[in-house]
Amino acid sequence: MISKSYQCPLCQQVLVFNEQSYRCTNNHSFDQAKEGYVNLLPVQHKHSKDPGDNKAMVNARRAFLDLGFYQPLVKAITELQIKFSVENAVILDAGCGEGYYTHQHKNDLNQVYGVDIAKNAVKIAAKRYKACSFSVGTLSNLPFDNEIFGWVFSIYAPILEEEFTRVLKTQGYLLTVTPAENHLIELKSLIYRQANKHDVNKSPISNLTMVHEQQLNYQMNFNNSDDLINLLSMTPFAFKTSPELLEELANKESFTCQADFLIRLYQKI
Ligand SMILES: C[S@@+](CC[C@H](N)C(=O)[O-])C[C@H]1O[C@@H](n2cnc3c(N)ncnc32)[C@H](O)[C@@H]1O
Ligand SMILES: [Zn+2]
Repeated sequence: MISKSYQCPLCQQVLVFNEQSYRCTNNHSFDQAKEGYVNLLPVQHKHSKDPGDNKAMVNARRAFLDLGFYQPLVKAITELQIKFSVENAVILDAGCGEGYYTHQHKNDLNQVYGVDIAKNAVKIAAKRYKACSFSVGTLSNLPFDNEIFGWVFSIYAPILEEEFTRVLKTQGYLLTVTPAENHLIELKSLIYRQANKHDVNKSPISNLTMVHEQQLNYQMNFNNSDDLINLLSMTPFAFKTSPELLEELANKESFTCQADFLIRLYQKI
């Protein structure tokens, strides 16, 4: 069943699963790793030795998400999935990281895929969420056949409209989550003298039809500096943090910060 949907990243033929490996008619073959994922990222599509988020970022994000700080986002996404339901939808989490959001879409009947370019992250996802199908791959050349997904999710990951549209079924939905204006603004203000708000005007999508847009804003209270440091490590501004500020954060007994998400839902009509 599962092998039907993967396509060869080298020649775009269907991959068939047999004896622990996926093979196309041109005999390109990709072994299933012991954790259960498959690496569908050919070396020639890799732009660095270890693409995507590094191990430290992956671990920090996992520790942070596990504490449930972004659970209100999961709830909002789930409500939209119920409201805009698609029958027998196969689901793709594009840029799935460690699968925190991916596995929340899984039920007893559906098929859920997660793809990410970071092998470290996919390994963790596959080990942890056995019921979902994970692959290492690039969003710019998704290892899937045309028009198979009822839903594609892109949560804080690059948005590649053309590829997402290709793999979406007609009437299928693309849900994107991006930072809204004040996302982590209090944390950013500590790092930059003048923290710029996120620009929310531009939509990265031009051909799909927007059917819903909502902002989700809430306060997160940190009483443990480790959680705050993990949050910082997940962000692109972690690299800008001076050792002095890192120490200041490590000594904070409490800190309050906004989560501010922009959720956009598009349909392929
Ligand atoms: C900020 S993380 C978000 C991960 C996950 N969606 C979450 O919210 O927990 C962005 C993810 O996009 C992945 N990514 C970045 N560029 C990619 C690409 N070209 N193809 C596949 N994944 C990519 C990174 O490896 C990383 O896991
Ligand atoms: Zn092939």
